[in-house]
Amino acid sequence: MQILHTIPAVRAARQDAQGSLGLVPTMGYLHAGHMALVRAARAANDHCWATVFVNSLQFGQNEDFNTYPRDLPRDLALFEEAGVDAVFVPEAETMYTADFSTYVDVAELTDRLEGAARPGHFRGVTTVVCKLLNIVQPHRVYLGRKDAQQLRVIRRMVRDLNIPTTIVPVETVREPDGLACSSRNVRLEPHERQAASVLYQALQAAQQRYTAGERNADTLRAAMHAILAPEPLLNVEYVSIADDESLEELTTIEGPALASLAVRIGATRLIDALEFGGDCTSTR
Ligand code: PAJ
Repeated sequence: MQILHTIPAVRAARQDAQGSLGLVPTMGYLHAGHMALVRAARAANDHCWATVFVNSLQFGQNEDFNTYPRDLPRDLALFEEAGVDAVFVPEAETMYTADFSTYVDVAELTDRLEGAARPGHFRGVTTVVCKLLNIVQPHRVYLGRKDAQQLRVIRRMVRDLNIPTTIVPVETVREPDGLACSSRNVRLEPHERQAASVLYQALQAAQQRYTAGERNADTLRAAMHAILAPEPLLNVEYVSIADDESLEELTTIEGPALASLAVRIGATRLIDALEFGGDCTSTR
């Protein structure tokens, strides 16, 4: 496995990689969710590359950039074991020179949900992902469905800016109790970790109602709140039933919809999402 630190090194290795290339962008501290993206990328491409970069630009002033978990040697060992061909691990200065001044902003779609809760977050995500796509030039990019809005925002950027790559969504990988794998889960104290299982239970409660035919979005939101409310350790930031594409809050579900939520448990912020209706295998 090649470990690439500079953009010229990536460009040289990229020239040598004939055939299709699938990219898995990450911030490291790998878990089973990241590894599912790697497996999907390996299975469908001649080359599987990954990136590890904790992108300061997507963290707010009061967010956890400094304390975001990091373990590069472990990440590299896991990527190597999984058959990744090359990993790009840039220094901050490589990605953002002192006079860096160009940003990618996806409008409207980023005003809602995570965008409303974390101003500037998606501008950081789209800017770094656009740069990574320009640097690596992959045929396909593998993104997790857990970060549902991020997936939609990046898909919109790729479409709007005609970036020649295909976004491939990958199913959320969960712990046995349903909690979505996340690098931030390690921060949960044991009692917090136990409480965190209600996130998925809430999404499932809404899904059960949906499957039974309920289409009133307020009823589905109430079903989620009813599961979350009794858990005293939880601070609910939002519970959403939104249009799957625009992410606008719905009154009545008439097409594909996205159930999503964000909660705080102690110092840790967790998000999760489930898609209702529509085709889950769609790469739209
Ligand atoms: P990170 O949180 O490291 O996630 C990297 C990728 O793994 C994202 O596409 C994310 O959706 C996916 N992922 C995370 N948890 C998952 C799970 N439980 N199941 C399946 N996939 C999962 O997301 C980022 O990094 C950054 O914002 C990034 C896109 C790399 C830009 O900096």
